[in-house]
Amino acid sequence: MWAFCMILVLAFCQLHGGQGGTIPSIGVNWGAMASHPLNPPIVVNMLKDNGIKKVKLFDADSWTVSAFSGTDIEVMVGIPNDQLKKLSKNKDAAEKWVKKNVTKHVHDGRVNIRYVSVGNEPFLKSYNGSFVWTTFPAMQNIQRALDKAGLGDQIKVTTALNADVYESGSDKPSDGHFRKDIYSVMKQIVQFIDEQKSIFLVNIYPFLSLYQNENFPHDYAFFDGQSRTVTDKNAQYTNVFDANLDTLVWSLRKAGHPNVTITIGEIGWPTDGNKHANLNNAKRFYRGFLKKMANKKGSPLHPGPIDAYLFSFFDENRKSVAPGNFERHWGIFRFDGKPKFAIDFSGKEEEKMPIGAKGVRYQEQKWCVLKKNFNTKKLEGPLSYACAGGDCTSLGLGCSCQNLGVVGNASYAFNQYFQINDQSVEACDFDGSATIVTEDPSRGSCFFPIQIISNGNMLRVMHEVGGLFIGIVLIFTTFV
Ligand SMILES: *[C@@H]1O[C@H](CO)[C@@H](O)[C@H](O)[C@H]1NC(C)=O
Ligand SMILES: *[C@@H]1O[C@H](CO)[C@@H](O)[C@H](O)[C@H]1NC(C)=O
Ligand SMILES: *[C@@H]1O[C@H](CO)[C@@H](O)[C@H](O)[C@H]1NC(C)=O
Ligand SMILES: *[C@@H]1O[C@H](CO)[C@@H](O)[C@H](O)[C@H]1NC(C)=O
Repeated sequence: MWAFCMILVLAFCQLHGGQGGTIPSIGVNWGAMASHPLNPPIVVNMLKDNGIKKVKLFDADSWTVSAFSGTDIEVMVGIPNDQLKKLSKNKDAAEKWVKKNVTKHVHDGRVNIRYVSVGNEPFLKSYNGSFVWTTFPAMQNIQRALDKAGLGDQIKVTTALNADVYESGSDKPSDGHFRKDIYSVMKQIVQFIDEQKSIFLVNIYPFLSLYQNENFPHDYAFFDGQSRTVTDKNAQYTNVFDANLDTLVWSLRKAGHPNVTITIGEIGWPTDGNKHANLNNAKRFYRGFLKKMANKKGSPLHPGPIDAYLFSFFDENRKSVAPGNFERHWGIFRFDGKPKFAIDFSGKEEEKMPIGAKGVRYQEQKWCVLKKNFNTKKLEGPLSYACAGGDCTSLGLGCSCQNLGVVGNASYAFNQYFQINDQSVEACDFDGSATIVTEDPSRGSCFFPIQIISNGNMLRVMHEVGGLFIGIVLIFTTFV
């Protein structure tokens, strides 16, 4: 009897202890477009602490991938769009890519690589068709190279597609079809994915529906709204995610490949840089989405469970703001690995913060601000200079640092520039208008950051040249 009770208690601990309850089908995106990236071993520990078992990368940076050595975390590596042309034309280049960026890690490091995403949203309309003819041949060449390396069964090739590869002329999913201008290449890719038993990877963003259309019904972007219902054939839609996913289901059916496995490559909600991008909305969106995933509920036409990678693990201050100022604020965690809002990765809606980064080192407690009583008429030049080099995306209307006024705007911008430049004294001048202070100028929701000490960029390079670097150091120390 006691033994039986012990087993029950142990089983209970398994389910509820630590972060053991994280939904297994949930992964995260980890991008590196940051001035001060967290060191990979710190990030891998964060993933473990939060029970996350799948990660999607946008490149195959060697230091990053090797940080997964010996873990059971499933890794998707990526190939950036600017490499597609070369890989589409040159089989040797594809073999070299696989050898250096996959085979080495799988064999030497026991990294659990499962997918290679060839290209990232290559068919976005804004790319004007630049990658339409190179993506599929590059996928084929990488697949052949994986097969040749004997890894074709365990590692699958796919491509991360934006949801604008399909469209519907109405708000009804059943009118959905792949975009006319890329129909033939989409058909080839879908057939390839079907034959290879790979996955159709699609990024779905309810936030963008709201951002792009002032009249979009607010609640329809979330999972707990009742304000709008769309009826399509026998299906009822109460949120745009389901409607979007089923538009893809219809598109795949019409293309003759109804059984292809769909995986959500990116889904999430930003927290700043737009009036709809805030902590409350992000919390509400993830709460609804994770609950749905925990209940293994998909959409009316895709009712079962679905794998999904949340976007994103961190804020990235070097992302292009061409799509909008919110682009640098997609993180569940801040740039330094601190959690921003309560999120329960088990989908049980518990009000708790996720586990942040451990062992992060910060620069000194110093900020750069506008000098007192400086003539504010002379600030235009310095301000635009600071914002070009730093990140001012939190200053706009509806953002965390709105209404700072002229003086506050300048101080915020100067500090961003100063921190991104590792607090160098020269980076806090601005024609003599700026000064370094030791008292935190943050106020209300507006946070004046201090950057972290990141070995990111330097160590990435060192890792690439590895032995060479040590060699040079040895020669140097021997002869000096
Ligand atoms: C391996 O991946 C890295 C990072 O994505 C890339 O810079 C490099 O060119 C790749 N190596 C080869 C041999 O293609
Ligand atoms: C696409 O075309 C537009 C308009 O002609 C242009 O402004 C933009 O720079 C082009 N984008 C790319 C990636 O070529
Ligand atoms: C899809 O799967 C269903 C159920 O397993 C099967 O009956 C059908 O033939 C499949 N369709 C195709 C085109 O493979
Ligand atoms: C501060 O900067 C924001 C964003 O650029 C701008 O909208 C706002 O008007 C500025 N405030 C003042 C007082 O200049």
